[in-house]
Amino acid sequence: MTTLDSPVDAGSLPEIPGRAGDTKAMPRRAPLDLLSSLRAKLVIPYVLLTLATAMIGMFVITRLVASTLRERFANQMLEASRVAGDSMVRRERVHLEDLRLMTFTQGVGEAMAGDEAGDLQQTLFPLVLNNGVQSLTVASAGGQELLSLIQDPATSEFLVSRGADLSQVELLAGPLAGRKDALGDKFAGLLSTIYGPYLFTAGPVRGGAGEVLGALMIGTRLDSLASEIKAQVLADIIILDSSGALMTTTLAEPEDGYDILSLAPYDVAYLNPGKTVQLSLYGRPYQIYYTPLEVRQKPVGVLGVVLPSNFIVTTESTSRNVFILLFTLGTLAVIITGLVLASRISRPIVRMRDVSLAVAAGDLEQRTGVRGRDEVGQMAAVFDLMTFRLRRRTAQAARLHAEAVRRSEELAEANVRLQQAQQQLVQSEKLAAVGTLAAGIVHDIKNPLAVISGLTEELQEGVTPDSAIATPLTQIRENAVRASGIVTDLLKFARQSNPEKSYQNVWDTVRTAVRLNDYLSRRANVRVGVDLTARPVMTLYDAQQIEQVLVNLIQNAVQAMTPQGGLLSLVVREAPPWVEIEVRDTGVGIPAKNLGRIFDPFFTTKPPGEGTGLGLSVSYGIVAQHQGQIDVRSEVGRGSTFVVRLPLRSPDDKTLAG
Ligand SMILES: Nc1ncnc2c1ncn2[C@@H]1O[C@H](COP(=O)(O)OP(=O)(O)OP(=O)(O)O)[C@@H](O)[C@H]1O
Ligand SMILES: [Mg+2]
Repeated sequence: MTTLDSPVDAGSLPEIPGRAGDTKAMPRRAPLDLLSSLRAKLVIPYVLLTLATAMIGMFVITRLVASTLRERFANQMLEASRVAGDSMVRRERVHLEDLRLMTFTQGVGEAMAGDEAGDLQQTLFPLVLNNGVQSLTVASAGGQELLSLIQDPATSEFLVSRGADLSQVELLAGPLAGRKDALGDKFAGLLSTIYGPYLFTAGPVRGGAGEVLGALMIGTRLDSLASEIKAQVLADIIILDSSGALMTTTLAEPEDGYDILSLAPYDVAYLNPGKTVQLSLYGRPYQIYYTPLEVRQKPVGVLGVVLPSNFIVTTESTSRNVFILLFTLGTLAVIITGLVLASRISRPIVRMRDVSLAVAAGDLEQRTGVRGRDEVGQMAAVFDLMTFRLRRRTAQAARLHAEAVRRSEELAEANVRLQQAQQQLVQSEKLAAVGTLAAGIVHDIKNPLAVISGLTEELQEGVTPDSAIATPLTQIRENAVRASGIVTDLLKFARQSNPEKSYQNVWDTVRTAVRLNDYLSRRANVRVGVDLTARPVMTLYDAQQIEQVLVNLIQNAVQAMTPQGGLLSLVVREAPPWVEIEVRDTGVGIPAKNLGRIFDPFFTTKPPGEGTGLGLSVSYGIVAQHQGQIDVRSEVGRGSTFVVRLPLRSPDDKTLAG
């Protein structure tokens, strides 16, 4: 136990006796506001932080994904448009090679100079077929159509024509005039024919002296070119002319017509480097990236690359959904972990709170039972130790309190006994004083009274009854006798002798006292009731003296009920260690102010000559000599009750005998 009184090292605490984990015995805890519970305080900020992080993370990542996606899409369009541009350039190069081949083929120059259409066709047609040329036009230096071969896209048959005036065809004007630009003497452009728009390249045919003999123009159908490009770039293609009007497209006709694919001339003028247009086609979102279509470094129209953009929206929403799912699961996992952690942290604290409540409510047997090397474990151990010490101290205090109460009761009892002894002493001293006084005067008075009554008797003998002094003589004698009686009483009182105790039946004493007062009671119209115990009660006392006490009490009772009459009850009771004799009347009662004086010698309220005031004081003295008690209760107008208590003793009890 000494270890418990020395300073505590919580880590090495001994096992402390008490009930641990007994929550049933705990007082009901006050309902806690859910938000102010320890668990909530731990979990709420944690959860809020997690949610905030998750939302910011989700926002950032979806943004990132979306912008990456859009960037990739834009790149894809740029790439497609570059590839498409390259295809046009490549086609134009094929045209140049074909032109070169035809220009330098023997007989072409001569045929043109000689205007020999038949020879021209014979020479050029095999080249047209072999090289897959879709359209060839030969113009004379004067702008006359010498030969035109154009393949019908439907039948693949070639249509041959001659003789048209081509001097107004802008593309042929440069070569026929022998003009050159930075790239040379060839010119390219888009032209519409009976089979739709074509990409044409035109170049001059010169004679030996360098003179222009005419011009050749080779063309490829734009729709076949667009299909070719579409196959390469995997995107639909739109080709507009330099005014922004649609020339061809690989797209099927939109609901709103082909016109929505065209651009305004203004847009075309400011197209460099490109323009993205968002359109809804066939009910789905598309993006078109328009760039200038340059052939031979000159803008000839507009090239549009078309890609469906709904996959961006779809991919964005798919990725958003995936991230939402991931973040929701992650957040849930984090919250659950948080709850588990919080309850692990708060469980011992909650347990300590419960035990504190129980201890506060007075149950010092409770122990937290929480152990651990952490701060909470140490705190719990110290708390248990405190509770244990508190219980020990409380038990000590309770023992001391009980001891104090017992002592104070003993003290109170001793005090009562002391007071009784003091009262008895005072009473005895009063009696003794009166006794000494009485003994002194009785002798001196008794003799003169005897002389008075003797002489009066003698005088009476000499007097006739009708004499004038006969009556006064009689009165003198009677009063002398009366005075002598009083004096005798006083003497009796003065000579109070020690009681001569013997083993007596209380019933007999009570009955004798009642019988002695029989006449008195009847005359005063008082009914008498006696209530005795079931069996006779025997004890040690002086029968004559106790009889005297009861006679005094009965006489007082009868006098208190005179003249109105009433009921006198005598009750005998066994109340160990006493036998009680109760004398109760329904008389006038005793005023409270007199209650403390009625046992005093010579206290009387009766008219002079009727009472000496010695009855109760003599009775008190007798009972005291028997180690008994005499009590009174009284109510004015209702009556008085006197109780005499005598100790219950067996005949061989020597302590009181004698
Ligand atoms: N039963 C009673 N009812 C009412 N008053 C009583 C009763 N007993 C006693 N007293 C009062 O107590 C006084 C004292 O009684 P105590 O017997 O000593 O003297 P006493 O009766 O007056 O005279 P004595 O008994 O000497 O003839 C009485 O005068 C009376 O006032
Ligand atoms: Mg009396």
